[in-house]
Amino acid sequence: MSEMQAERVEGTPSEPVTAEPLLELSQVTKSFGGLTAVGDVDLIIRPKEIISIIGPNGAGKTTVFNLITGIYRPTKGEIRLEGKSTVGLNPDQVLTRGIARTFQNIRLFNNMTVLENVLVGQHTQLKAGVLGSLFRTPRVRHEEEAARERAVELLSFFGQSLVDRQDEYVINLSYAERRRVEIARALAAKPKLLLLDEPTAGMNEAETLEAVGYIRRLRDELGLTILLIEHKLAVTMGMSDRIAVLDYGRKIAEGLPEEVRRNKMVIAAYLGQSAEEPEQSAEMQEQTEDHEVK
Ligand SMILES: Nc1ncnc2c1ncn2[C@@H]1O[C@H](COP(=O)(O)OP(=O)(O)OP(=O)(O)O)[C@@H](O)[C@H]1O
Ligand SMILES: [Mg+2]
Repeated sequence: MSEMQAERVEGTPSEPVTAEPLLELSQVTKSFGGLTAVGDVDLIIRPKEIISIIGPNGAGKTTVFNLITGIYRPTKGEIRLEGKSTVGLNPDQVLTRGIARTFQNIRLFNNMTVLENVLVGQHTQLKAGVLGSLFRTPRVRHEEEAARERAVELLSFFGQSLVDRQDEYVINLSYAERRRVEIARALAAKPKLLLLDEPTAGMNEAETLEAVGYIRRLRDELGLTILLIEHKLAVTMGMSDRIAVLDYGRKIAEGLPEEVRRNKMVIAAYLGQSAEEPEQSAEMQEQTEDHEVK
């Protein structure tokens, strides 16, 4: 399977419409020793698209996110945001350029409140220097107040419940609520492109439906472009403009949801693993976490 060329799904129109790509991956490759975690991946994401990356466990999906966000540098290939290369930038610089993300395993500060976690996400936006912060000049106080107001506004995107719980420690929140806080924190950096790594993992059906609703609203109401990794096929099929399928680090297919669903290579890739248990085991989650911090 890994040797096969990415197949143009039958009936897929040539690249749709006219908009310039927001993000463009060309021949992006990441090797870890002898393992090619991501191999020669091409991907174009246009403004306001919702694009999904799917594929079996270990297919290289999170590694693609780590490459886009500057956690890893590609072994080969080019990544461009609005036509300008991001290769060699560190994660903070990539964030400042307009790409924010959430993590497969939620990463929030459990010893901080909901509001404080969102405030952390604004650090790329704050202008006050160290001296200003030390002496709490009027300008700094004004900036802090504005930051708080904005953080509350971001929480209100998800309804009143997180606003009401803004002073609680995130550890007291449900899993689904913590995922929302993590998105609010990502939004605080005012991104153009939001990367969501398995945003509905660990959620029940009702929470998943709610997540689909707010992911759509992120695009429709906030004008964001969204790239997401999703294991629940029904979720991806329902909301993606296009789906790219990875298997053993290679893009084996890309197309409209209904085209991808019918694609023989995609079906084979999914049947190749235990297709009935797309959620990860705790052990696998830990492994992935390890990879991300290395
Ligand atoms: N830092 C690393 N060092 C060594 N191998 C790594 C590293 N990061 C990822 N890998 C390997 O690269 C491959 C792709 O991993 P990745 O986490 O990107 O998969 P994934 O598609 O996100 O899987 P999952 O669905 O389980 O989250 C796996 O074989 C993984 O073990
Ligand atoms: Mg992953």
